[in-house]
Amino acid sequence: DAKDRVSIFEMGARDGLQNEVAVPTAAKIALIESLADAGLKRIEAGSFVSPKWVPQMADSADVLKQIQRQSGVVYSALTPNVKGFELALDAKASEVAIFGAASQSFSQRNINCSIEESIERFIPLMELAKAHNIPVRGYVSCVLGCPYEGEIAVSEVARVSEILYKMGCYEISLGDTIGIGTPQKARRMLQTVAERVPMDKLALHFHDTYGQALANILACLNLGVRVFDSSVAGLGGCPYAKGASGNLATEDLVYMLHGMGFETGIDLQKLALAGQAINTQLNRNNGSKVATALLAK
Ligand code: HMG
Ligand code: MG
Repeated sequence: DAKDRVSIFEMGARDGLQNEVAVPTAAKIALIESLADAGLKRIEAGSFVSPKWVPQMADSADVLKQIQRQSGVVYSALTPNVKGFELALDAKASEVAIFGAASQSFSQRNINCSIEESIERFIPLMELAKAHNIPVRGYVSCVLGCPYEGEIAVSEVARVSEILYKMGCYEISLGDTIGIGTPQKARRMLQTVAERVPMDKLALHFHDTYGQALANILACLNLGVRVFDSSVAGLGGCPYAKGASGNLATEDLVYMLHGMGFETGIDLQKLALAGQAINTQLNRNNGSKVATALLAK
């Protein structure tokens, strides 16, 4: 039944690769296609941001235009403003995502404006998306702390989440951008946000900097949340959050969920191989313990 099904939003090609050394477009395409082959149904494929800010994502249009698409798979892209939305539309992104923050300082450093200014910028984008029938996801960063401000009030996380939801985002992804949260704190944060946005419209986006992401997810699962963002091989981090490691590794998440009896639709072996190929390309160690174990067999 639906309670036992979990939806994973794969971040490797975007949140992952935005913070690794640039890889050739062909390698990104191969990664995305292999992720879909492994059973991922929601794949963030790139972002339409300033290439001066994030050069690693400058070829996102080529990536989206050249991938072989599978039916039933969503290929999404980050769009901070109308310009980004228009580029995403032209590249035929299946859906887009706007990204705000619960921290003023992070908002300034990440998208060069205050929280309030970012909301103003999102309004025309939301209108365009509605006119073109493009679903919009919303991210809130720094939900368990900020690299510049430290503690962030959960009331502020709930406030920003509710604004994005009421603007028309179909789902709000709560980002522990720097991976500093711990289980009780994560649970309390999710509970507070769920008073303002329905639980089935919420996703958790946990980075694994302090190795807490799986524990945090476990602490939140029985509140009813069923959507998680993760990154194959634990790729990436955040260019504006020094010391942040990648998202939780998708392989580690899938292994835990399958072990608990949840369905994900993902073939773990194929997923591990997809991660291994991009690791080889990047000449980096695998950020997934599960993949490391599986591939050593
Ligand atoms: P700005 O400098 O204030 O923007 O940056 P602007 O409107 O003044 O434009 C400046 C220049 O950028 C102009 O070019 C624009 O054309 C261009 P110029 O005239 O100088 O040649 N520009 C664009 N180019 C391409 N695509 C666009 C675009 N918009 C303007 N969409 C801006 C504001 C938002 C653009 C900039 O701050 C930016 O690109 N920030 C992106 C930062 C980013 O990508 N961060 C990582 C993603 S967020 C994240 O990882 C967190 C998340 O994973 C959740 C979590 O973990 O918490 C989602
Ligand atoms: Mg992130």
